[in-house]
Parts: sequence; structure tokens; C-alpha cells
Amino acid sequence: MKGVLVIHCGAGTWRGVDEETIKKVIVDTLRRGIDVLVGGGTALDAVVEATMSLEDSGVLNAGLGSVPDLRGNVWMDAGVMDGWSGRAGAAAAVTYPKNPVLLARKILELTDHIMLAGSAADELAIKLGLPKHPGPSERVKKRYEEVLKKASSGDAVFKKSFELAQKLGYFDTVGAVALDNEGKLAAAVSTGGVILKFPGRVGDSAIPGAGFYANKYGAAVATGIGETIMMSMLSLRAVNLISEGYLADTAARLAIQYHTSLYGKDTAGLITLDYRGNAYGAYNTQAMPWGYAKTETREVVISGLKKP
Ligand code: GLY
Repeated sequence: MKGVLVIHCGAGTWRGVDEETIKKVIVDTLRRGIDVLVGGGTALDAVVEATMSLEDSGVLNAGLGSVPDLRGNVWMDAGVMDGWSGRAGAAAAVTYPKNPVLLARKILELTDHIMLAGSAADELAIKLGLPKHPGPSERVKKRYEEVLKKASSGDAVFKKSFELAQKLGYFDTVGAVALDNEGKLAAAVSTGGVILKFPGRVGDSAIPGAGFYANKYGAAVATGIGETIMMSMLSLRAVNLISEGYLADTAARLAIQYHTSLYGKDTAGLITLDYRGNAYGAYNTQAMPWGYAKTETREVVISGLKKP
């Protein structure tokens, strides 16, 4: 069996973002994750490693680069799922961990639960000695100031945060799906959520079936406006299509088509991987940088930088 790793840097407008920086993040992350598979690691090991790399990049909306909420604070969601065991773990509305995806994995492995949220989840991260998030970076703070300037009042921002994000240029969430040498699949996702969200808001990235899903046949990770993804159960839909016999590319296209028919364009994207090793990225936004690598060649393939 040959391993495959697929990652994405978030669906969105990607206006004003340096393409070379994103390509470098994709290459570095795929190399880091594929090395895990080459070294005999599991699909779960690889997706967590890759997602941590994306969280640590500081230029994407997750981990160190997470966008601010209405009050300028960072609240993050993350999830992981092991397709072989069917078990998932998720951390919702956390502020403490530098790598929320690592906390989601600990919740999967150490508890009988699927999701822990808020201050209690942060306490678990502290107890486990996970690295602390340093708080919003200068880059994130600057962005917050810029965005606030364009809004007339807090209420106006809250009610129009999606519209505003579209206007200002946005990109969302990171994620990874992998197939390991034993043919097992896994999915991982991490996000700072929607810019200027209401404090305490939880999005799709903490919800199995919505932001992420994996079983023995396929794995998928979604990105976009969480309020729409939670209602279309986008990741579950794509994995169900793969389980019915569709290849990863058709499943991704059909799932996005369905999502767009419900919620319109500029709302979502997803990456998919099937048990045969086929990988795909589909989106209804202007761009969704994504890429994949296989253990056989370690060659990196990048896509999604332009409009579909
Ligand atoms: N897709 C991430 C979020 O809406 O929170």
C-alpha cells in the first residue's frame, strides 16, 4: 500500500496574499507530513503533523495566524478523526493551545468523549503541558484594527461579518487528510473561525461530519463559512459518496455542488481522499490553495491558487 497526504490552506478570496509564501507553506507542510508516512507513521500521525505545520506557519487562519473575534481575541476550533476506528476528537472555542489540533487528538486518545469546549478544554491543555498560544500576533492585531475601521459599530460588524469578510478578502481554516501504508485514512482540521465572530461562537471545524470526517473508504475536510457547512454536513456527505463507490474527485464535486445549491457561491471548499489513493480539492470560492504528495515519489503537487 502507498501513502498519500492532502492538505489545504483555506477557501476564500485570497486577495492580497503573496502566492510564493503560500506555495512554500504547502511544500514544507507536505514534506513534513509525508516524512511521517514514509517513516511508518499512521494516517492520524500524518494529518496531525501536517495541521500543526499549517497552524505554526502564522500566515493562515489557524493556530498562530488565527483571525480575531469581535473583541480582538482568538478563539480556535479543531478536530481529528481516525477512519479505521471511527473515533473522533474535537476542541471547541479554545484560547490556550498553540496547536488546537494536538488537543483534539488528546481528547480522542485520552477521553471517552468527542468534544470538549471552552475553559475546561483549555484546562486540559494546560494539564497535559501542551505549548501555549502567545495570543494574537502583530499581524493579526493590525488586521483587526483595519477591519474595525471599516465597520460603523460592533453590532453592524457582528450582523455583517460574512459580508465584510467577502469585501475585505478572506481565507479560512486549514486541514489535512491522509492514507497510510496500511490503507487507513484520517482527517484533521483547525481554524480561528470567521473573522469578527461573536465571542464563544463555534464553527464546523469542531463538528464531526461537518468540518471533517473519515471512515474506511474515504476522508474529507471542509473549509468556508461554518454556519453553512454545519447545515449541509459537507464532509460526511463527501465521504458517504466515496463509500457508495464514487472516486474522491466526483465525490468532492458533487458535495460542493449540493452545498452551493443550498447556500450559494463563496461559501465552502473541501479536500477528499479515497481508499485507492485518489485526492481532490473542490471549492465554490475564488481560490483554495491545496496540494498533495505520495510516499512513492515525495513529489509535491499544488493546485487551487486561481479561480475555478
Ligand atoms: N470553517 C471554519 C469556521 O467557520 O469556523
